[in-house]
Amino acid sequence: MCGIFGCIEESSKAKKILIKCLNGLKKLEYRGYDSAGIASIENGRILQYKTTGKVHSLDKNIINTKDLSLAIGHTRWATHGAISEKNAHPHTDTSKSLSLVHNGIIENYKELQYELKQNGIHCISDTDSEVLTQLIAYYFKGNMIKALQTALDKIEGSFAIALIHKDFPDTIFASSRDAPLVIGKSKNTIQLSSDVHAFSGKTMKATFLADNEIASITHKEITVYNEEGKKKEKEDSVLHIDPKQHSKGPYPHFMLKEIFEQKINFSKSVDTFLTNDNLHHEIRPILETNTDQILIIACGSSYHAGLIVSSMIEELLSIPTQVRIASELRYQSPALTKNTLAIAISQSGETCDTLGAVKNIKNKKLPVFAICNVKGSTLTRIADHTLYIDAGPEISVCSTKAFSAQLTLLQLLVLHLTKDNLKKNIILSNLTSVKHALDYLLSHTAKIEKLAKKYSLYEKFFFIGRDVMYPTAMEASLKLKEITYLMSIAYPAGEMKHGPIALIDSKLVTIALCGNEKTLGKITSNLIEIKSRNGPILAFCPKGSKEIEEIADDTFFLPNNLDDFFSPLIYSIALQLFAYFVAIEKKTDIDQPRNLAKSVTVE
Ligand code: AGP
Repeated sequence: MCGIFGCIEESSKAKKILIKCLNGLKKLEYRGYDSAGIASIENGRILQYKTTGKVHSLDKNIINTKDLSLAIGHTRWATHGAISEKNAHPHTDTSKSLSLVHNGIIENYKELQYELKQNGIHCISDTDSEVLTQLIAYYFKGNMIKALQTALDKIEGSFAIALIHKDFPDTIFASSRDAPLVIGKSKNTIQLSSDVHAFSGKTMKATFLADNEIASITHKEITVYNEEGKKKEKEDSVLHIDPKQHSKGPYPHFMLKEIFEQKINFSKSVDTFLTNDNLHHEIRPILETNTDQILIIACGSSYHAGLIVSSMIEELLSIPTQVRIASELRYQSPALTKNTLAIAISQSGETCDTLGAVKNIKNKKLPVFAICNVKGSTLTRIADHTLYIDAGPEISVCSTKAFSAQLTLLQLLVLHLTKDNLKKNIILSNLTSVKHALDYLLSHTAKIEKLAKKYSLYEKFFFIGRDVMYPTAMEASLKLKEITYLMSIAYPAGEMKHGPIALIDSKLVTIALCGNEKTLGKITSNLIEIKSRNGPILAFCPKGSKEIEEIADDTFFLPNNLDDFFSPLIYSIALQLFAYFVAIEKKTDIDQPRNLAKSVTVE
């Protein structure tokens, strides 16, 4: 996934437009940060700076530039072509007449590259984006809208593009298909971005382009053309942007800020659930279907949230439920009934694999419910219905508050739909204890930090759990991998003796998630097996678990009055903190770990 940004102001009043563009790009770095670039037009010429590394590496280039009236910029997560200045965006055509930034993937770029070569046009980079740039330039005969229409019509794949041409020094052109792009207008400026939260204004009129629409943007107006090249009136929506959302506040990292936001988010989710009279209305589409099978589709942490809740759906709703990794499902032929309800879970709503799997399910004429955090994202536009987790923008690449908000929303949905009122009331009576557990956990981080310091000296980790603690262990293991780059793997605790226990030695730490009352005795036995083979053990367990305390090298006690239903939430947050503090010791780039991007919009 990459981020594109652009801004344009009235030339006589434009001030520091390149800096404004870089500031917008910096807010998009969570989308990708291996190289960056910016372009403008100065005295009828394309002006362009590119660099490997993060956006701030461009700051030095633009200190003394004149006040220009427009700029486009890009921050990249490499897909086609290695991380290099040559492959960084923006890309220009051979005659250096136009400059383009692109987020998405051009699937038929090789074929188009060949056609260009046949016409004597040679690309210098290894990217699909330059092919698109050269193609537009090839078709440009003076009318940019026509050139864009012709070129984009030949494109297979997804794109959100912004481009400038030296013949139109006061215009930015933009278009998108299956990739996010929003144009925001405030008093003195018009901006375009992959994500509304990169805009500098607080209240802006937003124009969302439909697929294949083309926008011609000057400092005072946005003209939109449909695929046939006809002007199209667009409905504006008003955006209220909270700049605090993109600030770390008193926290050293977005990840820690977002870990601590989970407490208020949990209370908000529960209050919405308990007081929202039209919740029934919002989920009526689920109720109306004679659902006899549920298929959960997701990737990464969202997949783990689906795994945790799937056993709760089966227990409380008695509906067979399967959870599939989207990148696998999209190339499989699942056996689905005609009353299957698909639930797609995605924080960003832009994950390419999830979108691909969802499109396949929709082609089977089955309903798709989306659980998402980003309004207007592609998933919310292709799903039949969407429930928003309202976790607020999650900036750290490593998902924490979005994961827990997805889990909580799905669990509350299950409680709303179950007919087992006895179990429902027992679980709901635990809500206060959960809030107290969150208070306890987030005010006892020092103990976790101390444990993290000790165990950060190890290089290999098992995370084990039973029942819903197993997918919780999977999520905990992913957190550690993602931000510390340490080798870790999750297993069902009962599975250890079927092979993995062969790996146990004094150098491999087993982190045990013992938050499942039902299977506490069983995981205790598993820990004895590990201990007897000199495996170091760090156990997260309910307060008062004396036997586990004797077996483990270290324990972190969590409240022992939690219903098994809510343990995954609390134990996940404890292990988020553990991973965070280990990463502090490893001095990694916690909010923007190497090789990763916040949303993987390519296969
Ligand atoms: C989680 O920490 C990761 N950043 C990653 O696994 C993420 O959950 C996954 O890419 C799915 O993203 P989505 O929820 O936006 O679809």
